[in-house]
Amino acid sequence: MIRLLVTGAGGQVGRALLEAAPLVDVLVTGLGHSSLDITRKDEVAERIAAERPDIVVNAAAYTAVDKAESETEAAFAANETGPANLAAACDTLGMPLIHLSTDYVFDGRAEGPYGEDDPVAPLGTYGRSKEAGERAVRRSNSRHVILRTAWVFGASGHNFLRTVLRLAEDRDELRIVDDQYGCPTPARDIADAVLTLAPQLLERPETAGTYHFCGAGPTTWFGFADAIVEAAAPLTGRRPRLVPIPSSAYPTPAPRPANSVLDCRKIGETFGIGQRPWREGLAAALATCFDNPAGTAH
Ligand SMILES: NC(=O)c1ccc[n+]([C@@H]2O[C@H](COP(=O)([O-])OP(=O)(O)OC[C@H]3O[C@@H](n4cnc5c(N)ncnc54)[C@H](OP(=O)(O)O)[C@@H]3O)[C@@H](O)[C@H]2O)c1
Repeated sequence: MIRLLVTGAGGQVGRALLEAAPLVDVLVTGLGHSSLDITRKDEVAERIAAERPDIVVNAAAYTAVDKAESETEAAFAANETGPANLAAACDTLGMPLIHLSTDYVFDGRAEGPYGEDDPVAPLGTYGRSKEAGERAVRRSNSRHVILRTAWVFGASGHNFLRTVLRLAEDRDELRIVDDQYGCPTPARDIADAVLTLAPQLLERPETAGTYHFCGAGPTTWFGFADAIVEAAAPLTGRRPRLVPIPSSAYPTPAPRPANSVLDCRKIGETFGIGQRPWREGLAAALATCFDNPAGTAH
């Protein structure tokens, strides 16, 4: 049985990994932020040496895209120094590291979906810190998988699904950006992808590298919000009017890529991991939200 150590275990993907691992007979240990701060080099090395998993998954990150513009140091500490510490500790012990990264390493100017080898050019501090983290992982540990994903959502945590549900509770109109394209991705699907590739990475070290994985069916934030409101209306009785707006009408501290659609063919060809329509994951996440209404409030 494979033993997985997950950092950032209290986040969306971390929690999904803890839920999904037992279903595929993977033994998982989750370390939340308060159990292991990945920016602390010595503690990272000691803890990984003590736990001795077969593989480490780094789901820890500073993910507040706008706040990162004014908290550059914190963003780089978690997103560059942290992964560097993990990669070095794993390398010393001969252990692979699966590290999560983001579509926001791209500037969004490409016409079509981004491939793994397309040039990175992050627009904001968050993207720059994540890109620096990718480089740190590549530098320190050749047995890595960097898994770039996008627009993560689930029944819990801070995400667009929960924001839309919250706003829909008391607003009759929601104005949503309709000129940024990407792929919503259920946290659970990312967990399943990690659990599928982990044993293969152990068996076939030559599969190490960078991969893209996201939900199937590119859309805009407006399209995503529309699907959320439509699917939630029968459960909430709320159907606010949605108004599509351009990014220019909703200025944010951090600019976002206009197109961050990811080409996910490589992960399919290498590991047999297919994309699932994100709408299926949306239905499942909503069912969980409304089975457990307390979980929907921040
Ligand atoms: N969310 C998205 O839409 C999105 C999109 C593309 C890629 N990604 C990537 O996917 C991965 C998982 O994202 P997510 O949505 O699951 O993030 P999340 O829900 O924000 O969870 C991140 C977790 O990391 C923890 N953390 C932060 N700094 C830490 C540190 N120094 N040491 C240990 N733990 C720390 C956080 O704890 P605290 O809450 O206590 O800070 C939180 O529990 C990240 O690599 C992210 O960059 C996310």
